[in-house]
Amino acid sequence: MFKIETIEKDRDQLQKAADILARGGLVAIPTETVYGLAANALDPEAAKAIYAAKGRPSDNPLIVHVSAVEEIRPLVTEMPKELFSLAEKFWPGPMTVILPKSRLVPKETSGGLDTVAIRMPSHPVARELIRLAGVPLAAPSANLSGSPSPTCAQHCIDDLDGRVDAIVDGGECEVGVESTVLTLCSHPPKILRPGAVTLEQLSQVLPDVYMDEGVFGQVGDDVKVSSPGMKYRHYSPKARVILVKGDFESFQKFIQVQEGEFGVLCFQGEEKSLPKVCIPYGVNGDPASQAKHLFDALRQVDEDNLKLVYARVSDSEGIGQAVYNRLLRAAAFEQIDLE
Ligand code: TXA
Ligand code: MG
Repeated sequence: MFKIETIEKDRDQLQKAADILARGGLVAIPTETVYGLAANALDPEAAKAIYAAKGRPSDNPLIVHVSAVEEIRPLVTEMPKELFSLAEKFWPGPMTVILPKSRLVPKETSGGLDTVAIRMPSHPVARELIRLAGVPLAAPSANLSGSPSPTCAQHCIDDLDGRVDAIVDGGECEVGVESTVLTLCSHPPKILRPGAVTLEQLSQVLPDVYMDEGVFGQVGDDVKVSSPGMKYRHYSPKARVILVKGDFESFQKFIQVQEGEFGVLCFQGEEKSLPKVCIPYGVNGDPASQAKHLFDALRQVDEDNLKLVYARVSDSEGIGQAVYNRLLRAAAFEQIDLE
């Protein structure tokens, strides 16, 4: 474990982690969204090791992380002009763009697709590690496949201890949900996964961008999905999660009449008015705070050994769309509407 307080003070530790990456090793690293399980994106064996450590299906492609726009050119066959406008506005930051891949990117990294997902993270530790390793880093979220994404080093230890060569602790993730995934390979461009860079923000650069129908809907095994990640049950605690939509008053009434043992995912401050085991995730009306605490709350559900939780959900706008998208998957689309 390498603990990084500042880039300047902990340069030796960063260099050691970067050396492991350059040699083809696996290192869990902090980013501003969630922790990533990083390896050399251009090394097929390193990419394979990522899938093995996570227990991830090998057709679910990895995101390739770069530290500068020039590093993208050798990875793709085309640099559309929209990419430069997007980069200027949203990079470094929580946005991933899908582009046609070049032969330099092995099929192990792209999950067998002829496209590649690229992101330039803003977390200073992630950026420095890419720079020091001297190669683009493939990094899916550093959780076991199917469990909630990690937002601190302890979550990575819980899931991956003994399965990786090192873990770099860079503190708690600022955003808390994974990046917005946008494809420029379909026309008009579409969002495959909502994140902190919102539909409204992207429309300022891409006026006809839209949200893929799979984002808030259920996709069956027989349906062709735009992004392999959509078809897997995701972000789920072991417990059964049921979403409950409505205001706090109707939620309270609903909870009062439920029988048997269960817990509640609610907003901060609501615990005292609910006679149950409550796990708060962020503040009502503040979706950014909900995003930041969601995955930790979902992990807490299992730590508390709950078998069933009712999760309060509020209106979803902006980054709230990302929160709702993750909750829908955690709940395997089970939802009760009180409105
Ligand atoms: O914030 C993030 O994006 C984090 C941090 C570590 O950067 N990474 C992350 O990676 O969330 P992962 O692997 O957990 O999610 C990547 C998503 C998956 O849903 C995957 O199917 C999709 O991006 N994806 C990757 N490459 C793709 C491609 N070529 N075409 C369509 N979807 C792709
Ligand atoms: Mg993931």
